[in-house]
Amino acid sequence: MHFAHRLQSLQVNVFADMDQAKSLAVAAGQSLIDLSLGSSDLPVEDAVLEVIAQSLQDSSTHGYLLFHGTRRFREAAAQWYEQRFGLAVDLETEVLPLIGSQEGTAHLPLAILNPGDIALLQDPGYPSHVGGVALAGGEMYRMPLLAEHEFLPIFENIPAEVCARARMMVLSYPHNPTTAIATLPFFKSALEFCDQHDLALVHDFPYVDIAFCGHTPPSVLQADRERKRSIEFFTMSKSYSMGGFRVGYAIGNAQLIKALRQIKAVVDFNQYLGILNGASKALTSSQESVARLVGIFKERRDVFIEALKDIGWSVTTPAATMYVWAPLPEPWQQNSVEFCKQLVAQTGVAASPGAGFGQSGEGYVRFALVHDPDTLKIAVDRMATFLHT
Ligand SMILES: Cc1ncc(COP(=O)(O)O)c(C=O)c1O
Repeated sequence: MHFAHRLQSLQVNVFADMDQAKSLAVAAGQSLIDLSLGSSDLPVEDAVLEVIAQSLQDSSTHGYLLFHGTRRFREAAAQWYEQRFGLAVDLETEVLPLIGSQEGTAHLPLAILNPGDIALLQDPGYPSHVGGVALAGGEMYRMPLLAEHEFLPIFENIPAEVCARARMMVLSYPHNPTTAIATLPFFKSALEFCDQHDLALVHDFPYVDIAFCGHTPPSVLQADRERKRSIEFFTMSKSYSMGGFRVGYAIGNAQLIKALRQIKAVVDFNQYLGILNGASKALTSSQESVARLVGIFKERRDVFIEALKDIGWSVTTPAATMYVWAPLPEPWQQNSVEFCKQLVAQTGVAASPGAGFGQSGEGYVRFALVHDPDTLKIAVDRMATFLHT
């Protein structure tokens, strides 16, 4: 049989290697503490589950769902944006439900790039941003995110010949994996750069709610209030712990939304209506459960950072996200993959190697705070033994 060349560009997957390393560790008798995946351990709100359960009993929700059937969810999404950011969007043309935001960010390049066009991506960055460009036959220019620049890209460093062939820029703040945050003036400068080079400005925004100590992450649409060229992706996976339900939405520039909708029309018939109903409930209810969730992640963050400090590993306290981005100590500074493989084999603690998120992620490891504080302390104790023997 013959297979497409594009599969080659999808083969670099450190996370598949780590998956295997985890299985081997478990098979060898280690008790696994998995801090490698940003998949929340917290339950979905009962009120949301009840709405989904009721929908299951209603056979009118069981069929294919065309765009007109998603209106209630689009309304809920638009209402959420209006309340949070004071932005009124058009329900018909500026909001699009997704089967998880990853689906949307991976499909969008198919709607923007011709083969050989360039997408400007963050490095380190989220794997679906890279994968989507590869699927579309696009080329990537990886904008390095470095600690000395607060993990923000320096637009002036992008070569003119790259800018000439670029068609889109993808940003995501609060940022996975570095936990960096961006300000509204930063988004305004990104928009200016995209205006100058006629690029679509894509913002992946899964951690909008998970920010601490008074930081309120801005939306890119606050910088681009007329929605000239920006599209933002929101997911129900983080704020509402609905990762397995696969639901999110895109919001922003009507032409970009229409183009993404055209691509999706070939691929899917939207998320199941019952899940969209549950997601609408989550978006429109009092956001108390979100506030509780943020409190839980903050407590975990504080416990984990303090425990790392106690074992001599000094790490910046993140202002947002459910992750800790830790610079690796000697002798691991240039080998995050080996560090993670040996760590899980010897201690059962699984983390994500920085190199898995791109070249500029080398020298770091990402911990997802998806266990309770006591388990996180046990993980750090085990790491102390690993690091000091
Ligand atoms: C930056 C980023 N985008 C997208 C996703 C996935 O979101 P979803 O579950 O909606 O596909 C994640 C999950 O970790 C993420 O960190």
